[in-house]
Amino acid sequence: MRHLMSPMDFSVEELDKLLSLAMDIEKNPKKYAHACDGKKLATCFYEPSTRTRLSFEAAMLNLGGSVLGFSSADSSSAAKGESVSDTIRVISCYADICAMRHPKEGAPLVASLKSTIPVINAGDGGHQHPTQTLTDLLTIRSLKGHLGDLTIGLCGDLKFGRTVHSLIHALIRYPNIRFLLISPEELRVPSYIREDVLDKNNIPYKEVERLEDAMADLDILYMTRVQKERFFNEEDYVRMKDFYILDKAKMALAKQDMLVLHPLPRVNEISVEVDDDPRAAYFKQAQYGVYVRMALILTLLEVEVC
Ligand code: NCD
Repeated sequence: MRHLMSPMDFSVEELDKLLSLAMDIEKNPKKYAHACDGKKLATCFYEPSTRTRLSFEAAMLNLGGSVLGFSSADSSSAAKGESVSDTIRVISCYADICAMRHPKEGAPLVASLKSTIPVINAGDGGHQHPTQTLTDLLTIRSLKGHLGDLTIGLCGDLKFGRTVHSLIHALIRYPNIRFLLISPEELRVPSYIREDVLDKNNIPYKEVERLEDAMADLDILYMTRVQKERFFNEEDYVRMKDFYILDKAKMALAKQDMLVLHPLPRVNEISVEVDDDPRAAYFKQAQYGVYVRMALILTLLEVEVC
């Protein structure tokens, strides 16, 4: 039995296979409509979510399965003091697979150790968000045609943004990847990622503060929200929250085929005037999240569709 805690849990070959499956699902949805008949997905979300939870649910429903779960810690027995280990032992009796989001780093991993069903990390604190990364990889592969030979700008809250951490881990395994890390000093990529992931693997990267200075070089611009819920005080958040605003004027500096990605939800960091730009791919990205989660459920449940 396999779990998914980090994008590194899959080899590049396995990722390629999973993304190809997602692309086939997009083209032939009917072929997969009964692949999970009789199976159940549990969504255990101890932290708010719109896209991740609902796209997991849509994915399982599209496969013919059903869903159960909770969408906040308050509405689960966590409010009574139950541990995730005990909760997952019980959920294992009710469902075939579980997607778990938790504010504490490592909680889904703890759950996976006691689980008898596959557990998917749907975001653990400021650590990792592997299914968002699968979504991002599918978006890039579908719209750019390849995952190597890219200059990627990661912009915003690179300190607390778990989607950025997972994406860096995943992308360094493709050839000729270069990063521009665009953030204010206080929200830089954590040193453990700079040293243990980027430096150790000789990945070229540059840290810059001004988005304008990076725009012209980028093939992908990955914007992120300042992670309000992970700040220790409101004052720091208020000071940082509008540090970057992508607007038409900044888009005019970019390549004609650059793509703008964002895991969403957006707050102010992308002006709505950018939404109509053909390079804005963030709503399409949310759609890809359903196909890739369908592919992930099939893979972890070892369901083959001929
Ligand atoms: C992201 C998350 O939860 O980390 N959202 C998502 O799952 N699409 C990004 C965010 O909340 O800023």
